[in-house]
Amino acid sequence: MLSKKMEKALNDQINAEYYSSYLYLSMSAWAYGQNLSGFGHWFEIQMQEELSHAMKLFKYVNDRGGRVTLKAIAGPPVKWASPLAVMGATLKHEQKVTAMINKLAELALAEKDFATNALLQWYINEQVEEEASASEIVNKLKMIKGAGNGLLMLDRALAQRQLNVGTTQQT
Ligand code: FEO
Repeated sequence: MLSKKMEKALNDQINAEYYSSYLYLSMSAWAYGQNLSGFGHWFEIQMQEELSHAMKLFKYVNDRGGRVTLKAIAGPPVKWASPLAVMGATLKHEQKVTAMINKLAELALAEKDFATNALLQWYINEQVEEEASASEIVNKLKMIKGAGNGLLMLDRALAQRQLNVGTTQQT
């Protein structure tokens, strides 16, 4: 059984994962509006990964005899000044999510909830990848410095991203 405190914290994280998916869907819409369809596609995949993060927690709370209670999802920003700005915001958001996951792991350990701690190890590893991929794109955009050719090449590369459901659907 989950403690009430842990149950609430996991419910808050479910909401945060849904917000992440909403944020990336908004970024996707912005990118398509800028004719950056590779960026738009990349953010769409990112949105789907966030949904799988939310559903993994949803399943876990149910499996542990907890109760999922859904709350309103806040509206995300709708525009960014440039590709660098939108990717910079992505990296910043992922760093924030990492801090949230670390706090959850801290709580799980304080409560001696080893099952939740084990689940959270998956999220901790996932955050390393999330931050690394956003950071790599931010660095490439800094190299490109807004130049058309480089941006088009990067857009084409981002169009190749595929959904990594293999790891996200593990339980
Ligand atoms: Fe669910 Fe991008 O962290």
